[in-house]
Amino acid sequence: MNKEALADLRDNPLFRQQCFVDGEWADADSGAVLQVDNPANREFIGQVPRMGQAEAQRAIEAANCSLPAWREQTAEARGAILYRWHQLMLAHQETLAAIMTLEQGKPLAESLGEIKYAASFFKWFAEESRRAYGRTIPAANSDQRIVVIKQPIGVAAAITPWNFPSSMITRKAGAALAAGCTMVVKPASATPFSALALAELAHQAGVPRGVFNVVTGSAREIAGEMTGNPLVRKVSFTGSTEVGSVLMREAASNVQKLSLELGGNAPFIVFEDADLDAAVEGAIAAKFRNTGQTCVCVNRFYVQDAVHDAFVEKLKKRIESMHLGDGFDPQSDVAPLINQEAVDKVLSHVDDAVGQGASLVSGGKPDTRGDNYVLPTLLTGVRQSMQIMREETFGPVVAVSRFATEAEAIDWANDTPFGLAAYFYSENVHRVWRVAEAIEAGMVGINAGLISNAAAPFGGVKSSGLGREGGVEGLEEYLETKYLLMG
Ligand code: SIN
Repeated sequence: MNKEALADLRDNPLFRQQCFVDGEWADADSGAVLQVDNPANREFIGQVPRMGQAEAQRAIEAANCSLPAWREQTAEARGAILYRWHQLMLAHQETLAAIMTLEQGKPLAESLGEIKYAASFFKWFAEESRRAYGRTIPAANSDQRIVVIKQPIGVAAAITPWNFPSSMITRKAGAALAAGCTMVVKPASATPFSALALAELAHQAGVPRGVFNVVTGSAREIAGEMTGNPLVRKVSFTGSTEVGSVLMREAASNVQKLSLELGGNAPFIVFEDADLDAAVEGAIAAKFRNTGQTCVCVNRFYVQDAVHDAFVEKLKKRIESMHLGDGFDPQSDVAPLINQEAVDKVLSHVDDAVGQGASLVSGGKPDTRGDNYVLPTLLTGVRQSMQIMREETFGPVVAVSRFATEAEAIDWANDTPFGLAAYFYSENVHRVWRVAEAIEAGMVGINAGLISNAAAPFGGVKSSGLGREGGVEGLEEYLETKYLLMG
């Protein structure tokens, strides 16, 4: 992005450098700020308040004050506001996508895709808001009636990651606001501007003051207040398993309801009866979305003996045709990683695999374009014991292992503490059912490399988390079930 375009974007009313608390734009009490850099060149793009415990507490109190009026609105009225928010996001999609690429680095076409995906949660939950159905149950005694009603859980808090700066907020806020909850969001410090742009649009859409708040700053202090404040009845977090388990411990003191979308280690299995061209396209989509920085990105490829060499050959051609560049370059399919730590992790996984005997077929090194650039990489001969098969790499590396039998592939796929997404390709309907049911994951892509969808329940099993976002289940996470016995 050239200097004039950057200056224009900075002047855009959606590019806010203050927090949004109780319907007002606010600075930190201390005046402290956090600087935000562009991952493509590590240049400064703007700053946001470095808020802490006191400001988080005020945001929670504002959310609590606005709760009675918001939950008393009809579901239809709340849905209408969410629908306006969705439309405003689409009307401003170009600006929102440019803000995202500037702070997160992903290719502009992917940012546009994320804005549409993010907006789709508001539309989905605008419609779902009126389906918070209860039920009646036949009572044991003829003079009694049993009724079950659904009520909003109360003030909700969201802690969101840098890899999907817009959709991880709308997936939580759409459900919370539709259910009648109010919310305080703490976005990742690397990507706060997408969150603040959403707050501006919330205001324009008519979200009442205090119903949606965004607080940037110290993760430790803000998250500590969110889990420590008894006014908060629900905490939703997307991020690492390490941080998720800390939050779980902290939330225990107030017995807060939790949704945790944590780390993954997704397998991608190609069986000998797969359509190989479709499998290669699915592999590219499932591996290189957001340059591999997606919780549902494939981390491990298992390819059956009979098709291994043909699959690797086709995949190599596809990988070598990919263009690595600045997210604003329309040619770019893959873009810089978020920071140096991410680059170091990716390269250390590659070094460990090669050091233990894997073959480096393409890439495997940083690119001269800039500090955060790593070439799309293909490794073969990877074994289950290598670091790259055991930990989430979060980068553009395809690690391929060959297998002989279906049982072996399933064993290896399940040999991990994680269970977020999994993918497999097969044209055999019997195998499709067997494998889909045997895989330990919350989401399974069958002959499909992209699984994310507002209408579907997104979430993991084992150490990949608790609860579901999106779908009917997403609304349920923000509702309490109350049983009434009428004598
Ligand atoms: C994630 O990386 O956790 C979110 C990806 C998605 O919603 O598709």
